[in-house]
Amino acid sequence: MARQEARYICQECGQVALTWSGRCPGCREWNTLVEARQSGGARKRPAPAGAAPRPVPLREVQAPDVERLATGVDELDRVLGGGLVPGSLVLLGGSPGIGKSTLTGMALANLAAAGVETLYVSGEESASQVRLRAERLGDAALSVPVLAETSLEAVLGTLESERPRACVIDSIQTLHSAEMSGAAGSVGQVREAAAALAEVAKRRAIALILVGHVTKEGSLAGPRVLEHLVDCVLRFGGERERTYRTLRALKNRFGATSEVGVFEMRSGGLTEVADPSARFVEEATRQPGSVVLAAMEGSRPVLVEVQALVAPSELETPRRIASGIDRNRLSLVLAVLARHAKLGLGGADVFVNVAGGVRVDEPGADLAVAMAVASAHRRLPLASGGRPLACFGELGLTGELRYVGHPEQRVAEARRFSLAPVLGPPGGEPTEGLTAHASLRGALAAALKPRPAEAPLERAA
Ligand code: TYD
Ligand code: MG
Repeated sequence: MARQEARYICQECGQVALTWSGRCPGCREWNTLVEARQSGGARKRPAPAGAAPRPVPLREVQAPDVERLATGVDELDRVLGGGLVPGSLVLLGGSPGIGKSTLTGMALANLAAAGVETLYVSGEESASQVRLRAERLGDAALSVPVLAETSLEAVLGTLESERPRACVIDSIQTLHSAEMSGAAGSVGQVREAAAALAEVAKRRAIALILVGHVTKEGSLAGPRVLEHLVDCVLRFGGERERTYRTLRALKNRFGATSEVGVFEMRSGGLTEVADPSARFVEEATRQPGSVVLAAMEGSRPVLVEVQALVAPSELETPRRIASGIDRNRLSLVLAVLARHAKLGLGGADVFVNVAGGVRVDEPGADLAVAMAVASAHRRLPLASGGRPLACFGELGLTGELRYVGHPEQRVAEARRFSLAPVLGPPGGEPTEGLTAHASLRGALAAALKPRPAEAPLERAA
């Protein structure tokens, strides 16, 4: 059989190469070359006048009635924007062991219990392994039809014949098309499989969830191209050894991308944590180095505990370890502390951790990080009367505290747990219960009552 001539196109810069390599010869990015078939046809000619399609004013376009399939996993439905949309593709990424199969298994179980035709395609595990998990998830999970298959053509055939309304492919990296060179999981294979599945899903109005593995660095292994192909990209995160897991939408054609779902892995599957704040406040240690951050996760406020440890370093370049917050953000906070609060930590290792394995990706976390580090460094607890201190706010490079969105909601959430006052930046409408400070120094002075020997911060109040 004569093989079609292949060429490879970089998904970052568009460079065309005749052979595949791990690194693009153009932009030097890794794993961006994707196989594309040569379509040796002549140049396209425009359609003759009259036959050319006519654009329609948007007002005259019919708005689709987006019907939703509620998966019954409330946190998942919320992140999706109200449930699965028939004919759409959702890519669910996450590192191995995080609970992707459990989450999708639970969603299909609920759908099946509600009378929706479902299909679970497993390329990773045998049907009996899938059954073992389903047994832990409960009876409804056992009524989901399973197909243990890695051949793309076979899966497409089953989708055509069974016509499920909701289907999970676990995982997209295990599917293999016989018409395509390359091993399963290679960029070309993954893209081919996703494109073929998308076509069937659209045509048959199947709500399709593609499960995908994520590399350590956090990008979907190889198939970054997939993110363009699908309607919704969900990321299941958290650390495997930790209890809490968060589900976020990185892209969503049918809803907002800011919602976050919080789950906990238990013996009977994932449980939704409906009130994460209660959990995290209760677990906050109230020790030096611990502070509560009034964060916003999408449209809802969440209180999380930020912890810091500052210890003399034996290394020439001291350690800066951040988990749950951006490492660069930690560097910035440390620089601002050194420059504007006379809190130089050049000889110390600094560890910052958001408790519970939660990730906070908002600049509003800066003040909490600064507070936790300062409190750890001075060994002064920020808690008073047994209640941890709550705060929020962004740090500017000149040491000012900057306004961040939804101060009222953050403060209200803190008050729900009798955390008052809340330390934060001024700005917007005055918020009841908020002790506003314009600068980091002011905020630190208000929170840390320095011992007489360390007066400098006091003067700044
Ligand atoms: P899994 O969903 O298979 O993860 P992924 O598909 O992302 O690789 O399961 C993740 C882990 O969760 C696994 O180590 C077993 C554990 N687990 C429980 O603790 N309780 C349960 O009820 C289930 C189903 C799994
Ligand atoms: Mg799995």
